[in-house]
Amino acid sequence: MCSVNPGHQTRISYNFLLLIILQVGLRKVEGVWPLPQTFTSSTERYPLKPQTFYFGYRQQSAAQQGCSVLDVAFKRYFSVIFPGYTSGNDHLRCEGKAFFVEISVDSRDCESYPKEDSSERYNLSVADGQASLNAETVWGALRGLETFSQLVYQDDYGSYFVNKTDIEDFPRFPFRGLLLDTSRHYLPVSAILKTLDAMAYNKFNVFHWHIVDDPSFPYQSRTFPNLSKQGAFHPMTHIYRQSDVRRVISYARMRGIRVLPEFDSPGHTKSWGRGQPDLLTSCYKRGIPSGTFGAVNPAQPSTYQFMMSLFKEVSSLFPDSYIHLGGDEVDFSCWRSNPYIRAFMQKMGFGVDFPKLQAFYMENIVNITSALNKTSIVWQDVFDYHEQLSSLSVVEVWKQGCYLCEVRRVAKAGIRVILASPWYLDQPGPTHNWARYYTVWPLAFTGTEDQKRLVIGGEVCMWGEYVDAANLSPRLWPRASAAAERLWSDEKQTSSVDNAFPRLQEFRCKLLRRGVQAEPLHVGHCKHEYQGV
Ligand SMILES: *[C@@H]1O[C@H](CO)[C@@H](O)[C@H](O)[C@H]1NC(C)=O
Ligand SMILES: *[C@@H]1O[C@H](CO)[C@@H](O)[C@H](O)[C@H]1NC(C)=O
Repeated sequence: MCSVNPGHQTRISYNFLLLIILQVGLRKVEGVWPLPQTFTSSTERYPLKPQTFYFGYRQQSAAQQGCSVLDVAFKRYFSVIFPGYTSGNDHLRCEGKAFFVEISVDSRDCESYPKEDSSERYNLSVADGQASLNAETVWGALRGLETFSQLVYQDDYGSYFVNKTDIEDFPRFPFRGLLLDTSRHYLPVSAILKTLDAMAYNKFNVFHWHIVDDPSFPYQSRTFPNLSKQGAFHPMTHIYRQSDVRRVISYARMRGIRVLPEFDSPGHTKSWGRGQPDLLTSCYKRGIPSGTFGAVNPAQPSTYQFMMSLFKEVSSLFPDSYIHLGGDEVDFSCWRSNPYIRAFMQKMGFGVDFPKLQAFYMENIVNITSALNKTSIVWQDVFDYHEQLSSLSVVEVWKQGCYLCEVRRVAKAGIRVILASPWYLDQPGPTHNWARYYTVWPLAFTGTEDQKRLVIGGEVCMWGEYVDAANLSPRLWPRASAAAERLWSDEKQTSSVDNAFPRLQEFRCKLLRRGVQAEPLHVGHCKHEYQGV
């Protein structure tokens, strides 16, 4: 089993000669996406075979066998590297012929959950027929495994190789998110898990789950079961049970991805009202209730009792230290029409200043969630209406137009920023427009170093009006990959669209090989075309 087939050897060297001849005038583009911070590789290459390939822990490593995150990742990446093979458990150690990837992790954080400040740094060195991967945390080790898997390639005869390589790598931004909207269309859990796989291939690390909105409320609450019973598209088939949510969180964690839940209010809550009467504001027409409802009613104490119970449940289910509270696009007309709201505003001294009423509401919700030890993120509207709101921690910039002006304003106010405006991928731009998502310069505003450090990252948004599981993957990939490189890699090294293009084409072929239905970028072919599922 361990002996090398001599006939095969000859074939390799024959192929090698052929390759050298073919190389003249050919540009090789195998590599890693997103581009590592420092990367050197040579033409010295080592053969790999599934029968004699191992991942293992170095003796000095704090994490050892039994480290759930990595043990499982070894199996996963074995199958990614050698499609069609699963890693055996009865490996023979064949001196001199085996290929080892030795992993060393400084901290023993195998059971933990990835955090905003978790290190994702790793060093990877492939030399002398083996590889060594060092990281501070298991999350860094996961990023390194992904990189290693992308370095392996096959020749025309199907033999596997990896070149001598040295990589030192770390992300440019700590927050690299992708938003899925499961309210406008329901996405089956399997579609979410597939997206998490593809996110890991792109080194995204935050899944922003915009789980509920106006059209439907698929989150099944233990405390308020009527919300999904009345508010989901279907109370049994189009919901996320607590067990589904836990499955998504654990699947994401295994890939070093945080799950950031969003319960957007006071606007975008029509579906909430169906299962929770009295939560929304009753709109008035000519002095009487018109039968329609507007934003959450900020004037009654029962609203805050409800929110307290809901967020208590959500906070214990989702382990992330962040929670997204929304706060965008509140339509004031219904509040304005309602005499009780107007009377409340008089009593509070707000006059007819509706943004003040929204600020009052948001402040209450932020206080509820901070009492639950959560850091809140809000859409930029909340900041725009009340820059002085002292409780704001993170603002997500989403509006089109001069988004860098907004980034600058938020950073100047000393508040952390996430940039989403240039990455609204739900708008069905043609794939060849990927460069538009690539040529985004999140720090190109005048500001101090400290202000720029407040820009913690960016996010790709896939709103669901025209997207469900049927077209999710091709609409996301590989356009989201352009944003992934912008958020991970060094800006100077990745400023050229022309250099990126062949690399992205190659990466898209890798995604296809891994079963991700990524759209083509232009005329061309992949060695392994998509074969259906
Ligand atoms: C890997 O090595 C092969 C030949 O040994 C060479 O053709 C190829 O360009 C190398 N790839 C990289 C990324 O250095
Ligand atoms: C849920 O809705 C049903 C039917 O509309 C109602 O009878 C029940 O009281 C509601 N439960 C709660 C906890 O509000």
